[in-house]
Amino acid sequence: YKAELDASDIEKGTHPHYMLKEIDEQPLVMRKIIQKYQDNDGELAIDGTIIDAIKAADRIYIIAAGTSYHAGLIGKQLIESMAKIPVEVHISSEFGYNMPLLSEKPLFVFISQSGETADSRAVLVQVKEMGHPALTITNVPGSTLSREADFTLLLHAGPEIAVASTKAYTAQLAVLAIVAEVAAKSRGVEIGFDLVKELGIVANAMEVLCDLKEIIEHIAREFLTVTRNAFFIGRAVDYYVSLEAALKLKEISYIQAEGFAGGELKHGTIALIEEGTPVIALSTQEKVNLSIRGNVKEVAARGAYPCIISMKGLEQDEDSFVLPAVHEQLTPLISVIPLQLLAYYAALHRGCDVDKPRNLAKSVTVE
Ligand code: G6P
Repeated sequence: YKAELDASDIEKGTHPHYMLKEIDEQPLVMRKIIQKYQDNDGELAIDGTIIDAIKAADRIYIIAAGTSYHAGLIGKQLIESMAKIPVEVHISSEFGYNMPLLSEKPLFVFISQSGETADSRAVLVQVKEMGHPALTITNVPGSTLSREADFTLLLHAGPEIAVASTKAYTAQLAVLAIVAEVAAKSRGVEIGFDLVKELGIVANAMEVLCDLKEIIEHIAREFLTVTRNAFFIGRAVDYYVSLEAALKLKEISYIQAEGFAGGELKHGTIALIEEGTPVIALSTQEKVNLSIRGNVKEVAARGAYPCIISMKGLEQDEDSFVLPAVHEQLTPLISVIPLQLLAYYAALHRGCDVDKPRNLAKSVTVE
């Protein structure tokens, strides 16, 4: 583990908080992951034994908690669409109670930044007893989940100190995309794009976004300094990013925040909208662009204060922030960045302890 550490990894340097430092490190982490997962011919590659395990599986079960669970939801979408392998995603603490009917040849994938989350470990112990293969995707080599699983893939994100996970989340998404691509290749499925090139574009877009902090800080001041609650809405993969955005905001700013699927609004949540309720809508997918804007109109008509974050090519005049365009499969890697920054600045301006929020631990080693 020490081999990957250098002094700059654990010092805040000129950054006022670890969280901001870790947000800023995301372009670098992307480039490091691309490099670490390329073979001598520049092709994306993972260990052959892991490829064999994926090929032998008829279904993948992703198990994770918190932010890692949110990464898992996007991982499912990446693996299913690219490699055409069915994937289920489960919250680790729930798995034991609501054990799904397992397929004949399951492969368990544990996603855990720390590799120490007790809820996830409990599932690992259980599935190993049942004789199923397990892969851990973690940032910490030698961690419990890494040692006890059959295989490990590393995030190469460097130490993450702030309690709110940022760079580990985008690293998880990148590694899951790589797993999806390599799995597709090994099964002879054509994904139709060059992932190395597209991840490079993602890294550049992340850099652009990290330079736009002032705009996000302005939005945070405008929308989030006095409010008690906030909603994030999205459809398709934007919905999963909304869940993560809400988690980030509540963790560090203590604003009651929730992420919702745009289409579910009318089935209950819209009752919570009051005059001035901030509603942050994400629109990065052409197929949902019109419908999510329809949802924004519905909440605005009931007094909500909307903030639309869209993507180049889909933008409209009313939008508060437009993301640089990246491949449609990879939008969560960049759409989350302004949302991480939004949480950061909201917490900062509300006088919260950004790096060490109350009641939370970086890794939860009790069930
Ligand atoms: C804790 C942290 C969260 C994290 C979760 C899962 O609750 O506060 O930020 O997402 O654990 O952690 P893991 O290390 O398993 O990814």
